[in-house]
Amino acid sequence: MPRVMIIGANRGIGRALLDGYLKKGWKCIATSRKEQAPEENVTWIKLDIRDPNSHIPLTGELDLLICNAGVFLERGAKLGSGYDANLWADTFSTNVTGTYLAIETQINVLKATKNSKIAIISSQMASDTTAPGGSYIYRSSKAASLNLGRNLATDLKSEGISVGIYHPGWVQTDMTGNAGNLTASESAAGLIKRFTALSIETTGCFETWDGNIHPY
Ligand SMILES: NC(=O)c1ccc[n+]([C@@H]2O[C@H](COP(=O)([O-])OP(=O)(O)OC[C@H]3O[C@@H](n4cnc5c(N)ncnc54)[C@H](OP(=O)(O)O)[C@@H]3O)[C@@H](O)[C@H]2O)c1
Repeated sequence: MPRVMIIGANRGIGRALLDGYLKKGWKCIATSRKEQAPEENVTWIKLDIRDPNSHIPLTGELDLLICNAGVFLERGAKLGSGYDANLWADTFSTNVTGTYLAIETQINVLKATKNSKIAIISSQMASDTTAPGGSYIYRSSKAASLNLGRNLATDLKSEGISVGIYHPGWVQTDMTGNAGNLTASESAAGLIKRFTALSIETTGCFETWDGNIHPY
């Protein structure tokens, strides 16, 4: 059976992705900052993606690495009275540096696996084409994760590793205060189809959960 590693799998979209891959019978490696109760067919790893020392390379093979963990910290911030420098640092250390560290740590097992894939959960808020304003920190961090994914796609193509970047929809999770128009399971079901469709021909794509190409 193929093996997937899901970063930030204890709640929200990450948990729904884990449930989706368990249903498909995949071997699942799931990460969480907090200790999780043992579960059949899941290897839980404790990982805070901001901490370089907590990233441990896997051995063997890895078919799919999903970089899902993320934060939105600037709720209610207003231009001129918010967007504290610490919020920039904390958001970037998770959404950008953490994503990069997770990929770098697993690069050798991905290289050792035929047709392996990396999926980065970014956001429609990464787009500079749409640019509706506001949420400057989160938008910048997601734009950086999109840019990271696009450049990794270029560099990893010759290694046979495909990289896709995704908008999961507006999803009912803690991040949105459950205000989305999609459940986490609906989002995950769509994303899993997109990850299956991802190939070396489509590497570097920026797509929505339901298969539309998203403008950069
Ligand atoms: N929900 C939406 O509508 C929406 C829209 C666009 C993009 N996204 C993106 O989709 C992804 C998942 O979002 P969600 O809605 O499922 O959010 P969520 O419910 O808030 O869950 C976020 C997940 O990320 C983990 N995480 C946060 N900081 C971490 C760190 N430093 N180290 C390790 N794990 C960390 C959380 O773990 P803890 O439990 O330890 O905090 C949790 O598992 C994020 O990248 C988000 O930006 C979401």
